[in-house]
This record gives sequence, structure tokens and C-alpha cells, in this order.
Amino acid sequence: MRILLIGFGTVGQGFTELVMEKRDELNRAISIVGVYDVKMGGVLNPGGLEPELLLEAAREGKLSSLKGGFEKVDVLSFIKETAADVLVEVTYTNLEDGEPAYSYVKQALMSGKHVVTSNKGPVALYYRELITLAKSKGVEFKFEGTVLSGTPAINLVTHTLKGAKIGEIRGILNGTTNFILEKMERGATYEEALKEAQKLGYAEADPRGDVEGWDAMAKILILSNAIMDANIKKEDVDREGITGISPQMIKEALEEGKRWKLVAEARWDEGRFKASVKPRKVSKEDKLFPVNGVLNSIVFTTDTLGEVQIIGPGAGRRETGYAILTDILSIK
Ligand code: HSE
Repeated sequence: MRILLIGFGTVGQGFTELVMEKRDELNRAISIVGVYDVKMGGVLNPGGLEPELLLEAAREGKLSSLKGGFEKVDVLSFIKETAADVLVEVTYTNLEDGEPAYSYVKQALMSGKHVVTSNKGPVALYYRELITLAKSKGVEFKFEGTVLSGTPAINLVTHTLKGAKIGEIRGILNGTTNFILEKMERGATYEEALKEAQKLGYAEADPRGDVEGWDAMAKILILSNAIMDANIKKEDVDREGITGISPQMIKEALEEGKRWKLVAEARWDEGRFKASVKPRKVSKEDKLFPVNGVLNSIVFTTDTLGEVQIIGPGAGRRETGYAILTDILSIK
């Protein structure tokens, strides 16, 4: 698999570290042939780039200093003209119009390349269009890393749970808010907890994306459309974040043996689809009650197995890098 990587931030570097670390295990089946990052410039070598050299150049903030390097490029032409099998699109998430990632993904699919992404923008906003385009071109569009990072969520349903119907999803889909709520239960202020989440690299570049529920909204939108065939838009999700949860409310909940969680829900209800992201006071009996810190969880209600719950990391460099790796390895 020849990989063209657009974006070389946390996720791009996390993925490259895994390619380096698992080189022998992977039998050198993955070769990164090109990388471009708007801040660091790019590099191209059809024979394959050494992951060590890419990571070293990234530490200095300059890919263009490598052999085959360049400062600027027209990204759409670069995607179209580079001989590669897979575009790995890991630029920043934009939930307004999905750009520039949306155009990059479309260009790659149109030029017959598979696409693997952890970018929520294009998947949340244009899932149906992009999957239809991929099918018409005979290539794959994979996005495991958009929800629960590398913890299997999308592929679990589309591959492993084939033949089961998902009627309802309830989950904790945002690590930052779950981390903040737990820290507040332990006595930290909202500001202290948010600062720590930012320091640990969990929060979005603009943390309003987390605390106002936009990140969880994008994830429930992706799950609704990709595994529940809902075809809904962001306006259809009833969204509320955690900014209205006061220390007093947290204290009262604890006294009742309950905890506040930011819960995302989606369900088919008599032929109508409903999706929401809202703070909910959950009791000990709730399967989401013990999910702590930056961990995420989804409870799938299926027609064949009843409830199936997954719990695992929902963010992080290595965790999201792994999502990219597993998607590439599953391309047929
Ligand atoms: N900011 C997100 C979170 C990162 O806290 O879950 C993963 O999408």
C-alpha cells in the first residue's frame, strides 16, 4: 500500500510512529510515499520515505528540508497526480463546511484512491455523498478514527456485527467532557479540569468544540448515518454541552448516588429517527455510570444480541494513529 499523507500533526505522526514500530510485523506492506502539511511543507519519494526521517523533520517543523522536499504545493493537484493507493487525510476538523478536507477526500476518491481519515468534518457532513462516490469508483472510504479513536466502533458494526440491526445507540463520545466531569466530582474547578484536559492533548484546538457538545454531535451524526442508515444532518441533532453543569449540581448528584455524563443518543422510534447530545444524570444501574476519565463507551442495542457495550480510549496520538493503521490494513 502506497500512502499519501495530508496533514502531519498529532494523528499523522502517531500513525507514522506505528508504521515504524511495527515495520517487521507489517512486512513492510505500508510505504509512505508523500506527505504534505500546511505548516511544515512536504516531501515526495515514490520509492518510500523513511518514517524516522519524517518524524525527525517534524520535530524541527520542516518536512521541506528532506530530500525530495518542497515548501508549497497545490494540494488538490498533489493528491490527483501522486501515484499512491491510499490518501490518509488527517488535517484539522471543520464542522462548518468540512473544508479543506472535504475537497481533498473527494479529489482522492475521484482519482481512484482509497481514503482513510480521522477527520470528523467530511464524514459528519457528507457521508452519503462520499460513500456513494467511493462505491462508484470501486474504492474504499474508511473513517474508524472519527469515533472513539482506535477503539473499534464503526468497523465493529460494519464488519463484525454484520447481519445484526442496530436500533439504538447510547454513548459517551467525548473524552474531554468526561474527564472534566470526573475531575469536578473530585473537587477540581471547571477551569482547572479543562486546563488539564488541554495539557494532556485531549481537547479540540478550540475547546468549545468539546464543552458545547459539537464534537459529540459530529460523532453521533457519523454513527447515525454510517451504521443506522439515518441520513440526518447536524441541525437534526438536539445538542447541549456541559457548560451549564455547576459544582452544586455535581455535588447533589453524588449525594443521590448519581453522576452527570454527557450522553449521546440515537434511536429509531416508530419509523422516526431521533438523535441528541445532552448532559444526563445517570444512576449506578446505567452501563455508562462507570466509564471514567478520558475513556469513551457505546452501548449498541441490537436485534440479535441485546445490548453490546464497548469501552476504550476515545482520543490520543497513538490511539488515533492506530485507527488509521487498522483501516489501511482492512482495505481489500
Ligand atoms: N476532543 C476529542 C475528545 C478528541 O475529547 O474526545 C477526539 O475526537
